[in-house]
Amino acid sequence: MKFFIDTADIREIEDLMTTGLVDGVTTNPTLIAKSGRRFLEVIADICRIVPGPVSAEVTATDYQTMIREGQKLASIAGNVIVKVPLTVDGLKACRTFSGMGIGVNVTLCFSAAQALLAAKSGATYVSPFVGRLDDQGYDGMALIEEIVNVYQNYTQLTTQILVASVRNPKHVVEAALLGADVGTLPPTVLKQMYHHPLTDKGLQAFLTDWSKTGQSIL
Ligand code: G3P
Repeated sequence: MKFFIDTADIREIEDLMTTGLVDGVTTNPTLIAKSGRRFLEVIADICRIVPGPVSAEVTATDYQTMIREGQKLASIAGNVIVKVPLTVDGLKACRTFSGMGIGVNVTLCFSAAQALLAAKSGATYVSPFVGRLDDQGYDGMALIEEIVNVYQNYTQLTTQILVASVRNPKHVVEAALLGADVGTLPPTVLKQMYHHPLTDKGLQAFLTDWSKTGQSIL
C-alpha cells in the first residue's frame, strides 16, 4: 500500500519525507487555505521536495475552465496530478486530461457508482472519503470494499483506489486489508501509526536492564 500525506504544510512534508514512508502528497483547497500561502507556489515547493505524485485541485466547476486550470497546474512539474471533483464536468475534464497524458485524481467520491464512472473516465486515482461517510453515520470502509470488488471484476480498469478523509490508523489497516492501492494520511495519523503502549513499555524495560550491565556499545 502506498502512503500519501494529506497536507499543504511544507515543514510537515519535509519532516515526514525523512522517514522514507511517504510516496506522494495530496492537497485540496481547504488545506491550501490553511497554509496561508499562494497555491501555485505551495505546489511548486511540494514538487521540489517530493518526487512522487502531488495532487493539486482545480477550483473551477465548468469543463472549459477546469481544463485551463488543470493545464496550468500540470505545467508546474511533471509529478503534478490534477485533482477534479466527481461531477459531470469533472469527469469530462478527467477524460480530456487522461487523453493528454496528465494524471488525474477524481475526488469527493462517496459511492461505488461514482467510482465506476471515474474509472471509465480514465482516472489515475479515485478518492473515496471514508471519514466523512463515517461522520454521517455511514460505513466508509464498506464503500472501499465495494469499489475494490467492482474494480476487480474488470482487469482493464487501471484506476487506483486512493482512500481519503482518513481519520485514524484503524482506517489505514482496514483499507490495507481490503487491498486499497493508496491511503492519503493526515500527518498526525501517520505519526500515530508508530505508537503502541507495549512498544514503549518494552523499550523502557530493555533500557533499564541494559543500564544494569554497565556496558556501552560504542
Ligand atoms: O483531501 C481529501 C480528504 O482527505 C479530506 O479529508 O479530513 O477533510 O474529510 P477530510
